[in-house]
Amino acid sequence: MRTSFFNFFNKCIPMNQIVGWLDFIDYACFSNSFCFVEIEQPISGFAVAKVVDSGHPDFKKGDLVWGRRVGWEEYSLVTTPECLFKIHHTDVPLSYYTGILGMPGITAYFGFYDICSPKKGERVYVSAASGAVGQLVGQIAKLMGCYVVGSAGSKEKVELLKSKFGFDDAFNYKEEHDFDVALKRYFPEGIDIYFENVGGKMLDAVLLNMRFRGRIAACGMISQYNLHQPETIQNLTNIVYKRIRLEGFVVVDYFDQYSKFLDFILPCIREGKIVYVEDIAEGLESGPAALIGLFSGRNIGKQVVKVTDE
Ligand SMILES: NC(=O)c1ccc[n+]([C@@H]2O[C@H](COP(=O)([O-])OP(=O)(O)OC[C@H]3O[C@@H](n4cnc5c(N)ncnc54)[C@H](OP(=O)(O)O)[C@@H]3O)[C@@H](O)[C@H]2O)c1
Repeated sequence: MRTSFFNFFNKCIPMNQIVGWLDFIDYACFSNSFCFVEIEQPISGFAVAKVVDSGHPDFKKGDLVWGRRVGWEEYSLVTTPECLFKIHHTDVPLSYYTGILGMPGITAYFGFYDICSPKKGERVYVSAASGAVGQLVGQIAKLMGCYVVGSAGSKEKVELLKSKFGFDDAFNYKEEHDFDVALKRYFPEGIDIYFENVGGKMLDAVLLNMRFRGRIAACGMISQYNLHQPETIQNLTNIVYKRIRLEGFVVVDYFDQYSKFLDFILPCIREGKIVYVEDIAEGLESGPAALIGLFSGRNIGKQVVKVTDE
């Protein structure tokens, strides 16, 4: 059955391979479920929307929803209602359902708790730490009583990590010539948990600095998506000697646990225990530049495209 939506927000996710833009169909890096680009069709991704018409028994006119497989357009015809969640809590900004209350939030929460098996006092490193996922991982790890260091690509973002998100420390990876040296400065006793968002040279340096029985949650590898030749990882033997667990995951596997996540995150937002920074681009026409900006770090916080006020 088909349902029509009026879109409020579209979400920029750094999974599209921009180099493949003109390919017939360019599936995203992790699975075909996040976002894909088809020539002469709107980009498909995550959005927050209102139902304007519905032939589906579970959705009625006026319902607010968030979910995937929605076009970057003002009105969308959605034929996959199973990819949508109804919005029941509107005392928080609606745009949050593209971020902290949506896909990035679920990624951060289950990626950290389920894949990293954290313990109080452990040393946690987060890369791309000021982004949609990273800023939440850092704050959740702090709530858990961990020591948390993040890296980001500008002085402003480093300040944000320390002053707004409460990271214990942070550094600008673009100012570091040797990531191994930088990591040893912030983790003289090594890293227990690495929340991996960037891959490549950073992952290689992290492997040298992991502690015995450390865990790496392979969430994403944004530094590699647009390379014709991915970088080689040279320090993999550390996984063996140090008994490191490196595990990839994809957020869709956790969508059935959304209500458990909401029970955790909504009180955190309402009580101010977790804050969220968004970077809102105005108007659909600003969408392509906003998406491309993710790969140069132009965004500060979760990149969202605002389609309309209503
Ligand atoms: N596994 C899953 O299910 C899942 C779900 C969602 C997202 N992800 C992945 O998680 C990662 C973070 O996603 P997000 O939504 O939180 O993105 P985001 O932080 O909002 O945007 C991407 C950020 O990555 C940084 N970046 C870009 N190119 C980089 C490079 N070459 N080296 C290092 N940093 C670079 C930039 O910040 P700087 O200024 O700091 O460089 C940019 O702002 C991505 O790899 C994404 O693909 C995975």
